[in-house]
Amino acid sequence: MDIKTCASGSTEARIEELRRRFGSDLVILGHHYQSDDIVRHVDIVGDSLELARRIPDIEARNIVFCGVYFMAESACLLARPGQRVFLPDHEADCAMARMARAEDVERVLERLSASGRKVVPLAYVNSSLAVKAVVGRFGGAVCTSSNAKVMLEWALAQGESVLFLPDRNLGRNTARILGIPEDKQVVLDIARDNLDTPEVQGARLLLWPGCCPIHESFMKPDMVDAFHRHFPGCRVLVHPECSPEVVERCDGAGSTAYLIKEAEKAAAEGKEAALCIGTEFHLVRRLMERHAGRINIIPLAQATCADMEKVTAERLLATLEGLEEGRGEVHVDEALKAPARESLVRMLENCR
Ligand code: 13P
Ligand code: SF4
Repeated sequence: MDIKTCASGSTEARIEELRRRFGSDLVILGHHYQSDDIVRHVDIVGDSLELARRIPDIEARNIVFCGVYFMAESACLLARPGQRVFLPDHEADCAMARMARAEDVERVLERLSASGRKVVPLAYVNSSLAVKAVVGRFGGAVCTSSNAKVMLEWALAQGESVLFLPDRNLGRNTARILGIPEDKQVVLDIARDNLDTPEVQGARLLLWPGCCPIHESFMKPDMVDAFHRHFPGCRVLVHPECSPEVVERCDGAGSTAYLIKEAEKAAAEGKEAALCIGTEFHLVRRLMERHAGRINIIPLAQATCADMEKVTAERLLATLEGLEEGRGEVHVDEALKAPARESLVRMLENCR
């Protein structure tokens, strides 16, 4: 297994010493995709929805977010005045989020709405703060993989069409659950800018051409078939960032929280010989270890997120050592805060 679990004892001890020293002045949050080197030091581990929901209740002055850039930006939006948010490596920026640039999203929305058509943008939380601000200005909202169905229903009720971005896979997988016909969906060709075609004009669901390289490139339909052949009757569960061609062969698809819960249920029931899980490997490996002896959890692919891996124990330590001087602090553009917060709050209000 090609996973680094090499934080030295002294790094670990020093992080713990600083955590003790900061006491209630510090909360460390970590996404489930973080390595064990990080997860062992966090106060709250969760998926993106859970972590966003926890921010408003945090009283500590310093929030260190172990995840990727858009998550820390969302934390800045939800933090209290005077609270500071830190990300141990600012280069940890979700590859999918980088596929939708705010200026392109704004241009496309302006073009699509030019004829008076009401196009409601729905941004997966894996998008930059600047994109969320554009979405907020156009009356749209944010969603996560846990609430994409509820939020897509909401967005469809607000206008004639929905622009779902940046993840075309989550968009298509959610559209299938809601029964939106394939011929009412179109993946936009942003590079060629051909937004005036009859397909685009007639579509109910417009999809941005982004994806998660981890879930799309490493998890393939034939892998699902191979598991089913080797373990007849056993289930494959995947994250909905996988392609629809993978999801349709699987026995279930859902958010990180769903995958964790299903693994727990299967381990408690002990009825299945094996359970295959298709998502980021740091999380799958943790589930394999947690449930060893009760159920055989098998990864669909051993794919780790290189952006999440940029947050190392050494960088977490450097952030804590430089906390007072603001090392690793995330600053967001004040002008973008209000419209971006609007899009995020619309989600939180619709999914209480
Ligand atoms: P969750 O919304 O399930 O936390 O997923 C975040 C993510 O980056 C998935 O690749
Ligand atoms: Fe982004 Fe994919 Fe990494 Fe999640 S796993 S943070 S979507 S690149």
